[in-house]
Amino acid sequence: MKRPSRVFILTGAGVSAESGVPTFRDANGLWEGHRFEDVATPSAWRRDPLTVWRFYTLRRRALLNVKPNAAHVAVARLQAEGPPSLLVSQNVDDLHQRAGSASVLSMHGQLRSLRCEASGRCEERMAEDDLHEGHMVTCTCCAAPSRMRPDVVWFGETPLGMPKIHDWIGRLSDGDLCLVVGTSGHVFPAADLARQARQAGARTVLVNLDEPLNAGDFDEVHLGPAGKLLPGLVDTWLEAWSADGPSV
Ligand code: OAD
Repeated sequence: MKRPSRVFILTGAGVSAESGVPTFRDANGLWEGHRFEDVATPSAWRRDPLTVWRFYTLRRRALLNVKPNAAHVAVARLQAEGPPSLLVSQNVDDLHQRAGSASVLSMHGQLRSLRCEASGRCEERMAEDDLHEGHMVTCTCCAAPSRMRPDVVWFGETPLGMPKIHDWIGRLSDGDLCLVVGTSGHVFPAADLARQARQAGARTVLVNLDEPLNAGDFDEVHLGPAGKLLPGLVDTWLEAWSADGPSV
């Protein structure tokens, strides 16, 4: 493959599976034990905030016990040593950042931060006091401290960074690369991004354990665990591209 001038990367829950972070739709996934309508919608938060708080507090606390895996490291290496890239993740964990990816557009938000319901300001809140299942926390930004909500995008809310994502995809051209890792293709708008990148001229490459719903949008499909497959693919690409020299 010739050295692309740009690389667009989209990741989902599968990239963190080998770190021990549960996915959503696989066996034992989060949506097997919970109805997303009960824990991941604005109306669930209005109806029963403590249940929603508990669901996210368990996931926030779990971040303390997981580490990036070889797939996160391979993505970071591709970004550091390859052409200019945009990494978009549907994941709310921070494993790409911890693996060394310099910039990550977390389109579904972040578990590490909480958002003030009054001002909309986000604060990183990972102290022991912020991780109690039984009580919610208040902000430090308002004169009369307001309740904070998880800083994640719920079903029915608009994902973050869409203008930037569409701008980037619009600037892809023939010979560029779109790499998608660990996502089932169920949730839009993320599930449509590979199709759009391909339409712009990019070669679309998928690394996933099983065939996703949108398998037809990919020029190249690698089925298996990302932690096993991705490091080799990235090595091969970087080696081939180094022979081409930097793109202009
Ligand atoms: P899913 O749980 O829907 O899909 C995970 C995908 O990862 C599946 O296709 C698996 O085959 C694949 N997978 C599992 N283990 C893997 C591994 N070791 N290596 C590679 N692939 C692996 O998760 P997402 O597609 O990320 O949104 O879900 C998208 C969105 O749906 C989430 O961001 C979340 C959820 O509801 C919100 O909460 C708004």
